[in-house]
Amino acid sequence: MRTDTGQVIHLADYRPTDFVLERVDLTFELDPTETKVEARLIFHRRPGADITAPIVLDGDELTLAGLLFDQVELDPSRYDATPESLTVRDLPESAPFELTITTIINPEANTQLMGLYRTGGIYCTQCEAEGFRRITYFPDRPDVLAPFTVNIIADKDTNPLLLSNGNFLGGAGYGPGKHFAAWFDPHPKPSYLFALVAGDLGVVEDTFTTVSGRDVVLKIYVEHGKEPRAAYAMDALKRSMAWDEERFGREYDLDIFMIVAVSDFNMGAMENKGLNVFNDRYILADPETATDADYANIETVIAHEYFHNWTGNRITCRDWFQLCLKEGLTVFRDQEFTSDQRSRPVKRIADVRHLKSEQFPEDGGPLAHPVRPTTYREINNFYTRTVYEKGSEVTRMIATLLGRDGFKKGMDLYFDRHDGQAVTIEDFVKCFEDASGRDLTQFSLWYHQAGTPLVTASGSYDPAAGSFTLSLEQMTPATPGQSSKEPMHIPLSLALFGENGGKIAPSSVEGAEYAGEVLHLTGRTQTAVFHGVGSRPVVSINRSFSAPINLHFDQSPADLAHLARHETDHFARWQALTDLALPNLLKAARDARDGKPVACEPTFVETLIAAAADESLEPAFRAQALALPSESDIARELGGNNDPDAIHAGRQAILKQIADAGKNVFAGLYAAMATSGGFSPDAKSAGLRALRNSALTYLAQAEQTPARAKAAFDAADNMTDLSHALTILAHRFPDSAETSQALAAFRDRFAENALVIDKWFTIQAGIPGAQALDRVRGLMENPLFKRTNPNRMRALVGTFAFANPTGFGRADGEGYRFLAGQILEIDGRNPQLAARILTSMRSWRSLEPTRADHARSALIEIERAPDLSTDVRDIVERTLK
Ligand code: ARG
Ligand code: ZN
Repeated sequence: MRTDTGQVIHLADYRPTDFVLERVDLTFELDPTETKVEARLIFHRRPGADITAPIVLDGDELTLAGLLFDQVELDPSRYDATPESLTVRDLPESAPFELTITTIINPEANTQLMGLYRTGGIYCTQCEAEGFRRITYFPDRPDVLAPFTVNIIADKDTNPLLLSNGNFLGGAGYGPGKHFAAWFDPHPKPSYLFALVAGDLGVVEDTFTTVSGRDVVLKIYVEHGKEPRAAYAMDALKRSMAWDEERFGREYDLDIFMIVAVSDFNMGAMENKGLNVFNDRYILADPETATDADYANIETVIAHEYFHNWTGNRITCRDWFQLCLKEGLTVFRDQEFTSDQRSRPVKRIADVRHLKSEQFPEDGGPLAHPVRPTTYREINNFYTRTVYEKGSEVTRMIATLLGRDGFKKGMDLYFDRHDGQAVTIEDFVKCFEDASGRDLTQFSLWYHQAGTPLVTASGSYDPAAGSFTLSLEQMTPATPGQSSKEPMHIPLSLALFGENGGKIAPSSVEGAEYAGEVLHLTGRTQTAVFHGVGSRPVVSINRSFSAPINLHFDQSPADLAHLARHETDHFARWQALTDLALPNLLKAARDARDGKPVACEPTFVETLIAAAADESLEPAFRAQALALPSESDIARELGGNNDPDAIHAGRQAILKQIADAGKNVFAGLYAAMATSGGFSPDAKSAGLRALRNSALTYLAQAEQTPARAKAAFDAADNMTDLSHALTILAHRFPDSAETSQALAAFRDRFAENALVIDKWFTIQAGIPGAQALDRVRGLMENPLFKRTNPNRMRALVGTFAFANPTGFGRADGEGYRFLAGQILEIDGRNPQLAARILTSMRSWRSLEPTRADHARSALIEIERAPDLSTDVRDIVERTLK
């Protein structure tokens, strides 16, 4: 393992390489423990570069087994090799030269899952961000692009399949029992997009005809026998390809597009050129084993990785500080895809929920960083919600500022101007400025200033003048390394609604730019006066969540209820319902802490139940409305001195009151929302299931017995209903006989299917209360658990730490101590996974003092351990700072 060197990388230090890489020719002789890699690299010195400069190539845990210079063995006086670098001196002033580098690597021993490793008997690679340097010495940075030829030699019996990027050149036998295959990728690419897969897999094949009439072969490789479970992924891929042509004018650019599903994978998936590698949970689905959420995730991840072909691969990042250039933009693209394929408002609600529950705590805690950071110690720790999801929000705001056409022009210019290049956020933003003529200087602060801006609004109506005055103030909190902030350019989608529910169009607006229903907040404070407003308006601010901000706007329950009924933007309706719910949940948490009875405000309960029963609203929307803010949402809103038990108790009491008040409505919905005639994963059917299942949640809450959930469990004919019923049983009635029976039945039925067993682990890891820790410890001893598999670890330990506030945060601090032990154990094997799970501690400072002390001790225990990886050291030190 690479232990920490303490080295910090600064954006300001960026320099182009001294040497230009012309071509890469790789030969792999695959062996589980001794794979030989021969890399032939042709370079020339960059014109203008220092003629005495040596070439320094990156390595990570490498040993050099041979080095030729222009095919002749190089004298040891001319180079130095360490596990981390290879330096070669006395190189030609301008003539091209060739280095042939041989390394021997051990895929079987590669437990970090970076570089070339083994999973389920196959060879596979993960190179982003800096995994290629674990394969061979190389200028392993995204601004070094070259065409790659790859030759793979392996045992024929065990590895009938030999895959790499680009187009297949040919293959043949290669001595006794062996064969080889050659691949050529004509599109110059950085090393992080390299991929190799070898082994024995089943395949699903299809074709796609591009808009210009080229046929592309599509192949999805999965374990033998699992081919039928790849059908939905294939369907999603074809829809993604068509959508990118239609919406962004982007056509696929090779003859073949391949996806390989593997079971040991550190992240979701990887966009290697022409050869995506996926965590199998984002490929495999059928009604018996996958939930609606699984189907939706598959669609999203397939689209995301496919869209990277243009936003990431054809145009890549100059350096890793620019990660949001490809990730923020590609998340935006996949969100738009889903919005077009499914329901736009429901997708927006889901995305905003996710942003608020995952990115807001990051932005408001010790790990906060700008969308485009300027320093890092370990780049793997910057694949964050901020870079991805806030990065997408920033892209979305550009689209809001420029309008649909302006945004399209900017994107077209970006593709035209930068195809084949490795570029920066400044290059990206410039395209939108040039295409629209709009100055985006202030707007660009969104890339550079961390923290979630708080906008405080207050309004007053002057009936005599017929004008409405809106005062706005913005403040971005201090974040690590950024103590004071400039005011941002915040596009607020805003509309006024009259007493009859109709929209009021003001005759003019003073004090702020207001066009296309978007108000531009640019000052620290700003007052906008809306003229020609004939009656007191109800104002809707930040409709569709046009800006990723916290909004403080004191609106009466009556006004919020008005918006919940009349807003034409359904996202804003959901927001109004949430704004009605929140004060109740916050008060409930405080009352529960103080031992007072919890009571709920009637307007809220009535409005919520009315929305649930409103047949003019789509079921998926109604299900979103019924899913109240989570315990961690409440903790975030409370902001400090948090007691997870009180938050839980308060929220449960509110749920019970809603359940009691709406019992008949929920019973009606439960009966009415049944889907008939076979399972279909489409959004509409999924919406019916979602609403029916949330009705079931409330009914169980009202009845306080497991009977109905158990009946639902027994009757379920798909995984969505089955796992939902099991969750109610386990989370609400953990000690009941029904729950033990159901858990055992579920385990026995799906013991062979690891992805479904992950749900079994997840559900149990999330059972609230102090017993959770013992349960999790017990499950870690279960033969179905496998410590080395990232999906298993995330399902059990990850869910416990991220999604079980009362269990993980039990008052005696045992949950935090347990996590510390786990982190240290995982770190020895897989630092990236350890660091990721450790981010579950990011909000420790907002706990009440006793728990916060326990959390700090656990963090210190990690910090003091010997031989921490760079990944974990970076996270633990920032978390404690
Ligand atoms: N580029 C991949 C994706 O967005 C993720 C790679 C994550 N890499 C990492 N080192 N965490 O889809
Ligand atoms: Zn991505």
